[in-house]
Amino acid sequence: MPVPGGKGTFLRNDFVMAEETEAQASKKETDVNRAIKNIFYGMSALIAAAAPTYLVIDASAEIYKAGQTLYEDNCLICHGDKGNGKGPAAAAMDTQPRDFTNSEFWQQNNVNEKISDAIKNGHGPVPEFDLTGKHIHEIIEYMNRMFKPDE
Ligand code: HEC
Repeated sequence: MPVPGGKGTFLRNDFVMAEETEAQASKKETDVNRAIKNIFYGMSALIAAAAPTYLVIDASAEIYKAGQTLYEDNCLICHGDKGNGKGPAAAAMDTQPRDFTNSEFWQQNNVNEKISDAIKNGHGPVPEFDLTGKHIHEIIEYMNRMFKPDE
């Protein structure tokens, strides 16, 4: 904006404006720093609070892997690697294996217990498996994470 009083004033004004901008910029930087610091502190607090959860996350990664192996060894042949009931043996079967990718499957009450029951006691064509509670839990974990559709 041209300022009465000639070029010098204009430059001075310009300089003041530049200074203000710098001040604003440095304030912004401080704000950003503060925000980052807050996020950092927030995260540290979260990490501290969630320490046991972290252990669970690690453990559940292992559970998932173990469950995957068990599923592939015992269930894949009928229920398929994608859990959609189209395993290699399915085509020749009269009763089609349950489709675990169908949200209706997961909407049943106590679905995890149903899975557990099917594994322990068999369910029609599902053979009775000689699997322990730990292994059953791992399969259920895997099926939940892998096949359950997002809501
Ligand atoms: C020999 C093929 C076969 C194998 C192996 C098999 N299933 Fe199945 N499964 C089926 C068929 C077929 C059905 C559908 C039965 C029905 O509709 O009555 C079924 C149904 C189910 C159901 C639904 C039970 C219910 O209450 O409705 C669950 C859960 C299940 N299977 C889990 C498993 C798991 C977990 C494994 C591996 C540990 C497995 N199945 C292995 C063939 C198989």
